[in-house]
Amino acid sequence: MADRLTVVVGISGGIAAYKAVGVVRLLVKAGHDVHVVPTPAALQFVGLPTLEALSRNPVTASLYDDVAAVRHVALGQAADLVIVAPTTANTLAKLATGLADDLLGTTILATKAPVVVAPAMHTEMWQNAATQHNVEVLRSRGVTIVGPESGQLTGADSGPGRMSEPEDIVAAALAILQPPTTPQDLAGLDVVVSAGGTREPLDPVRFLGNRSSGKQGVALAVAALARGALVTLVAAHLEVPVPVDARLTVVDVTTALSLSEAMTAAANRADIVVMAAAVADYRPVEVSDGKIKKETGDGTLTLRLVENPDILAGLTAARRPGQVIVGFAAETAADRDELVTLGRAKAQRKGADLLALNAVGWAQGFGTDDNTVLLLDEAGALVAEATGAKSAVADAVLTAALSVRASR
Ligand code: CTP
Repeated sequence: MADRLTVVVGISGGIAAYKAVGVVRLLVKAGHDVHVVPTPAALQFVGLPTLEALSRNPVTASLYDDVAAVRHVALGQAADLVIVAPTTANTLAKLATGLADDLLGTTILATKAPVVVAPAMHTEMWQNAATQHNVEVLRSRGVTIVGPESGQLTGADSGPGRMSEPEDIVAAALAILQPPTTPQDLAGLDVVVSAGGTREPLDPVRFLGNRSSGKQGVALAVAALARGALVTLVAAHLEVPVPVDARLTVVDVTTALSLSEAMTAAANRADIVVMAAAVADYRPVEVSDGKIKKETGDGTLTLRLVENPDILAGLTAARRPGQVIVGFAAETAADRDELVTLGRAKAQRKGADLLALNAVGWAQGFGTDDNTVLLLDEAGALVAEATGAKSAVADAVLTAALSVRASR
């Protein structure tokens, strides 16, 4: 990557335009030559003098300024990188269609540089089928989508739609121009990972849960990203941070049923599916609308539970041709022999291509940085063993999944 890049920062007209100022500042501070191209609407939110002062370059939203320099295409041609932050629903639609009725539109059509967009809009607009379609169109053209994050929006509402932080947008954009240091053996593959532990509500304040922190699942997502995959992380109550990455989609879930729904949808297009989440086998038959009161009786409480679907078995049964499915099994076993015996039976029962088997206990497996897994094939035979940091275990699991894929 050249030391000094020519970066076009497009800004479209949404409240998050004030945060675009941070994107411009970070790029200028890093020594890059930054040219801001606001849409006319963006100038309702942030002043042109601010943008000129911070970028240290002239700024216009008009197609008809500086015509002699053929400005409508010159900026796009000169750019090494184009970032559009925020990208409103309207600008997303225009980019997906290739409209060029303003300087930002012509600049983007004229560029061969990587384009990064950071959407920002209200949740309903983001989730609208038209917007999601536009995002897919842009993604299929190689445009990098950063965010949006989930959080407080402009009004009283909160949810997905908040623009990613300037630091994350700039980091994701600059990363595109860095040659990858890890072998890209998952490039072009779609990897879906479930992580964390499900929670089954009993009443508005209580749930049945488990001790999974999500560390191993997140390590799998991170490792897959580093190896070039497009990753969907189905996240159930993670206790660890999830990186912001343009190739990562995070779907938050709570219960086993919501995890099942998210995994079934994501697995539809996946090449590799890893069920690392700890799923509740049972959920309460009834969820009380009000807080369950302590009863005076014999001092015991009986909960009636109903079985949840076995998600892994369902995914395996619906496996698409060529897809590799990996399950995890946490067992409390007295020794390695018992662990392998339990694992073998489970591997055969679940029908996954690989089962990553690990021993757990009160002081083992959960929330720790290290892990030891035995990888069993569909028939229950031991094919690999990995021990060490959860990141190293993640790499071993992905490598084993790739070799199953290659053997097909
Ligand atoms: N799993 C699942 N759906 C469930 C329970 C578990 O998909 N309802 C998945 C887990 O994500 C994991 C694998 O199945 O990948 C094994 O989970 P585990 O809890 O060890 O298996 P169970 O079938 O619940 O067996 P056990 O009787 O040992 O609890």
